[in-house]
Amino acid sequence: MLDEQTQKAPPPPFGWSPSALRAERFWDSYVVDQGWDSFTTEDHAVWDLLFARQVELLGSRIVSEFLDGIDLLRLDHPGIPELGELNAILEPRTGWRTVAVAGLVPDDAFFAMLTERVFPVGNFIRRRAQLDYLEAPDCFHDLFGHIPMLAHHAFAEMVEHVGRLGTAAIAAGEGHRMARVYWHSVEFGLAKENGELKILGAGLASSFGEAHFSLESDAVERLPFLAGKAVKTPYRHDAFQPRYLVSESLDSTVAEVLALSPEELLAL
Ligand SMILES: [Fe+2]
Repeated sequence: MLDEQTQKAPPPPFGWSPSALRAERFWDSYVVDQGWDSFTTEDHAVWDLLFARQVELLGSRIVSEFLDGIDLLRLDHPGIPELGELNAILEPRTGWRTVAVAGLVPDDAFFAMLTERVFPVGNFIRRRAQLDYLEAPDCFHDLFGHIPMLAHHAFAEMVEHVGRLGTAAIAAGEGHRMARVYWHSVEFGLAKENGELKILGAGLASSFGEAHFSLESDAVERLPFLAGKAVKTPYRHDAFQPRYLVSESLDSTVAEVLALSPEELLAL
């Protein structure tokens, strides 16, 4: 039964529904201030160390669009990027923007953010003593690993679609399907470039140990990246991957994911 206050409330605006409201903004509660002024000299030094080490490690082992994104977004400037300054370049380019979060965001909120071209970035950075151990994605993983590719128009469109697919999969109680597609593309995907195997995913781009491993280890499987294969391929979040999915090119990854509809995802 409606209470008195509810009965007196004005009618909702045309087109409003509780589910629409939830789909649009329920993730707001996870957004925090980046607190950039609170980062210490040591925090910025850790960023600089990680950045220099990873750029040297990756060399040309990563798709060239990633390196273009680093340049475009001026991520090579010293110190942890300030999200407002980053957004001032990123948002006019592809419509993506970053927001700060305090830790891992639940899958439903994460995918909902992606549908609005919003990418959550941890408001913390690992300690020097734990350069290669992370309990939750920090701002180095999020900013260095993910954001360069969001400056690329086609990839930017693909990640928004990933958000729509993830939201639909969760609503159907099948979130694991899209989690796998996401994992084998956005996080740990490989792609060929001029016939050479390259890193594509953010989890590999930002990893000191797994970047080379993914490309060079003889102890792993490398299988073609197809949506149907990705949906059926489990992943590890606590160890290096036993198998990687490889697409023929960055464009192939984008086309494969964009061609996937929520209905097809649930039927695979
Ligand atoms: Fe990530």
